[in-house]
Amino acid sequence: MSAKKDYTLGVLTSGGDAPGMNACVRAVARAGFQEGVNMVGVSNGYEGLINGEFKRWRGAREVGGILRLGGTWLQAQRSERFREKNGQREAIRRMNEEGIDGLIVIGGDGSLAGAHALAQQGVNVVGIPASIDNDIWGTDMAIGVDTALNTIMESVDKLRDTASSHTRAFLVETMGRNSGYLAVQAGIACGAELVLCPEFPTTVENVAQIIEAAYKRGKNHAIIIVAEGASIRTTDLAQQLDAMDIGFKTRMTILGHIQRGGSPTAFDRLLAARLGIRAVQVLLEGQNDIMVGLRGRDITVAPLEDVVSNKRPVNLEYYSMVRMLAQ
Ligand code: F6P
Repeated sequence: MSAKKDYTLGVLTSGGDAPGMNACVRAVARAGFQEGVNMVGVSNGYEGLINGEFKRWRGAREVGGILRLGGTWLQAQRSERFREKNGQREAIRRMNEEGIDGLIVIGGDGSLAGAHALAQQGVNVVGIPASIDNDIWGTDMAIGVDTALNTIMESVDKLRDTASSHTRAFLVETMGRNSGYLAVQAGIACGAELVLCPEFPTTVENVAQIIEAAYKRGKNHAIIIVAEGASIRTTDLAQQLDAMDIGFKTRMTILGHIQRGGSPTAFDRLLAARLGIRAVQVLLEGQNDIMVGLRGRDITVAPLEDVVSNKRPVNLEYYSMVRMLAQ
């Protein structure tokens, strides 16, 4: 323990918030204290790193009571300044001034790209994947995904009640501007007729045919999940479908940022704890420029270079399952 007493470890959350980020900050801080290092919380993500928004935590109690909270207690921003080399240099200068020897970054693909940029300039960094989109290469699940999916599922279950009462088709838009992961998984979990996502483009005519076929089979509702980044905008699609003679009248709901909030599920809390502890361990072992992730049942590490140059693909098999089960 004493060998590490002069080591100072910083932690920040960055990008869009994700349920479980707080559970992860708590795990990082407590694993750090357990190892005997000094802990610094950085507020407001990379923007806070540039501004020197540092808080030295005196002990494990400072992160008490945050485990079950949604959002990010440390706050996060999408920092434009940090995208530039000058911003990154200023962040490094601030870290050196504060005596921060290693940094743990909790966030999505943009945040992990920022972590990689710091590592290439000599900073000791380990990334932890947290983004409801689940589009990060090198991990089966990112922190926040399971909670978001459960929120979607609860919302769609409610929409199904009213859709069935009025014999309507409902378009439900999920988040994911570049990824259809949430939409596809929700499609299976919610018994959707069809999923529209950026990876598998389709036409209005095809959607209309599928909805009409469901009506003709005697269904009293049809749920279509549309990813935010799908080739057709949800509002346009709803308008066009409502003007067509397809049996059902059409309504739409954009779930939006509701999906990012809420207390993390047990799965997300467990994942956050495991990833947070492992991140501290690998950083103190001297590993650098890597991300910890979940592969199967194991916590593994992947080079940030690979993480930022690849994208986690949507599984075609899962996409097909939606249509197979919509009978
Ligand atoms: O990356 C997470 C995410 O929630 C996306 O699904 C969504 O497109 C985006 O962030 C929204 O970002 P913001 O909260 O900055 O509007």
